[in-house]
Amino acid sequence: MNRSNTKIYRNKKKWKDFPKWPQYGQRESRALLRALNSGVWGIGGKETEKFEKTFAEYQHCKYCVTMANGSVTLRNALLACNIEAGSEVIVPPYTFLATATSVIEANCIPVFVDIDPDTYCIDYRKIEKAVTPRTKAIIPVHLGGHAAAMDKIMEIAGKYNLYVIEDCAHAHGAEYKGKRVGSIGDIGSFSFQSSKNLCCGEGGAIVSNNKELTEKCWSIHNCGRIRDGAWYQHENLGSNYRLSQFQAAILNEQIKKIDRQIDKRQKNAAYLDEKLSQIPGIRPLIRKKEATRHTYHLYLFRYDTEIFSGIPRDIFTKSLRNKGIPVFEGYNTLIYKQPFMQGKRFATFNEWKHTNPNLNYSNTFCPVAENSAETEGCWLPQNILLGDKKNMDDIADAISRVHDNKKRLRSKIRH
Ligand SMILES: Cc1ncc(COP(=O)(O)O)c(C=O)c1O
Repeated sequence: MNRSNTKIYRNKKKWKDFPKWPQYGQRESRALLRALNSGVWGIGGKETEKFEKTFAEYQHCKYCVTMANGSVTLRNALLACNIEAGSEVIVPPYTFLATATSVIEANCIPVFVDIDPDTYCIDYRKIEKAVTPRTKAIIPVHLGGHAAAMDKIMEIAGKYNLYVIEDCAHAHGAEYKGKRVGSIGDIGSFSFQSSKNLCCGEGGAIVSNNKELTEKCWSIHNCGRIRDGAWYQHENLGSNYRLSQFQAAILNEQIKKIDRQIDKRQKNAAYLDEKLSQIPGIRPLIRKKEATRHTYHLYLFRYDTEIFSGIPRDIFTKSLRNKGIPVFEGYNTLIYKQPFMQGKRFATFNEWKHTNPNLNYSNTFCPVAENSAETEGCWLPQNILLGDKKNMDDIADAISRVHDNKKRLRSKIRH
């Protein structure tokens, strides 16, 4: 397993003058005080109610339920769809682990389908082959803020009667053919964890246009209660996955900035696409025309080791970081290759495996995702795209310099 990212994130390296994240000021301070002085810090507060209304509208949905994070939102969405234990749920392998572990936590089986080499989103052309009579749902991820091929995914879901839960953790405000993500499938799941484009430290939400599914999510996140029920009336199996008023207060301020930030990221990304495409061995991911609004939670590009004289990707990214450019390898170990998926670590997984004795991921092979994870994929985090033109030029210049000095760098690598 490649451990280089661990070191990187702990590294307190001085980056060039790129914008920091999160961005906040007096408004957030006042919002926190407002929540504090309301005297209602948890259930029944006005901040969550206000944010749920605002965020539902923002995502072109009728309903929103805030939750503790964007992992439980996925799990609770699956539970709300009443997907029975042992069912299969199709997921991409090039994503944060929660996309797949939420399936395991819902007592179901993640089935990995490879990604599209142009967008790194799930490859819709490969989904149908993975559908079996046990398949009950698909979780497409709008990776990096680029919408997955939702028309095709919805068509397949319609044909086989599958639920679609959109993992929108990277894609607040993103659009597919003008429709906001999260409003296309049955449920959209969002994360507000610190690095996300809309954040409050930790947090999450589901959005939906389906009242029944929303009410189930609401019940599951609030100890199985129902909206008009008594306090100790637990109609369903649920737990406490609620968001606090403090977190919602921050979100109520952060959401006012999001459109301006998206515009800026899109503009800088287009400029960077143009600049990086001119460097041999660097290919930015393709923005499909259907992805009418791309939120660039990540700016992804593909690195070609061969064209860089055989310099491995980790040396390439390290050399950029040494120049003050925060380029990372991102998901460098696919979910199905993680130790816990091989049954080596966690008891819970082994217990889950007892109920699914034939489960074995050792033969799972998604070649495109493996290439992205292990050799090709490079990331710039979203806050970098909030910089100015000079910041973008610095990135392109640093990559060009590595390219121009590739032979010298190669000769320095110990064999
Ligand atoms: C694609 C994706 N899905 C789900 C999650 C889980 O969100 P959270 O960290 O809020 O639990 C993340 C978080 O990084 C993510 O990137």
